[in-house]
Amino acid sequence: MPHEIPHRELNDGTTLPAIGFGTYPLKGDECVAAVVSAIEIGYRLIDTAVNYENEEAVGEALRRCGVPREELRVTSKLPGRHHAYDDAVVSVHESLGRLGLDYLDLHLIHWPNPSQGLYAEAWRALVDLQEQGLVRSIGVSNFTEDHLLRVVDLTGVTPSVNQIELHPLFPQRQMRAVHERLGVQTESWSPLGKREAPLTEPAVAQPAERLGVTPAQVILRWQLQLGSIPVPKSKTPERQRQNLDVFGFELTLDEMEEISALGRPDGRLFGGDPDVHEEM
Ligand code: A2P
Repeated sequence: MPHEIPHRELNDGTTLPAIGFGTYPLKGDECVAAVVSAIEIGYRLIDTAVNYENEEAVGEALRRCGVPREELRVTSKLPGRHHAYDDAVVSVHESLGRLGLDYLDLHLIHWPNPSQGLYAEAWRALVDLQEQGLVRSIGVSNFTEDHLLRVVDLTGVTPSVNQIELHPLFPQRQMRAVHERLGVQTESWSPLGKREAPLTEPAVAQPAERLGVTPAQVILRWQLQLGSIPVPKSKTPERQRQNLDVFGFELTLDEMEEISALGRPDGRLFGGDPDVHEEM
């Protein structure tokens, strides 16, 4: 019997499951099959983005899976080229069209792209789209403390979520403290660390051995105990199942610290520093 997935409350009063399913870089039929399988296995939070070019496939999976719409939480993300107010409004309508939905549960500004300087305008658009009911919760991704403070200052609305790169090699102590202070829910992209996943490091492998679970499950459990919402991707049903089965065991405080100690200042997977890395 799988454990029930707990929910985390957001600052707007809505909730999200404590773990979700990431869809990058799945596309086409492979994406449809993976998302249908993930929902069948029990995932209820599905994470896509305009720039993943798979919103149509995700939409197809949502229709095929047979789970009622209101039981699902669907996240998408606004690309950098759509930050201007009117473009952002059109972009969200287009995402809804591709997904075949009449509302999104969560929409995030994908990257702040500070040299463009339009992320605050994009945020205003999301605030208005939320008021209109097209997006239930609004948030951001890859925002630094400065970017967060700027949008809060300008609109008085605090993002409900900031989805950031977070894995054992880059545990984001400082941003998690910022989120704690501001009441922003952390979500983790690349929660395992992709090809750098430290699956054989003793800090991960030893607790896996002690608990009779896999190293990937230890890393995802570490994410949950940090308070973040990880969105692991896998195209393999067996791994999807494994990655969701992380509610029946617990890491000790020492084990948590040892995993966090794998972090390095240069631990980002591809140098995605939001002050300089930009995506359109
Ligand atoms: P696959 O899709 O073949 O399962 P991240 O979530 O950090 O972005 O990592 C995703 C990568 O990790 C994918 O390449 C995925 O491969 C692999 N992966 C996902 N779950 C597991 C797991 N439980 N054990 C090992 N590798 C995994």
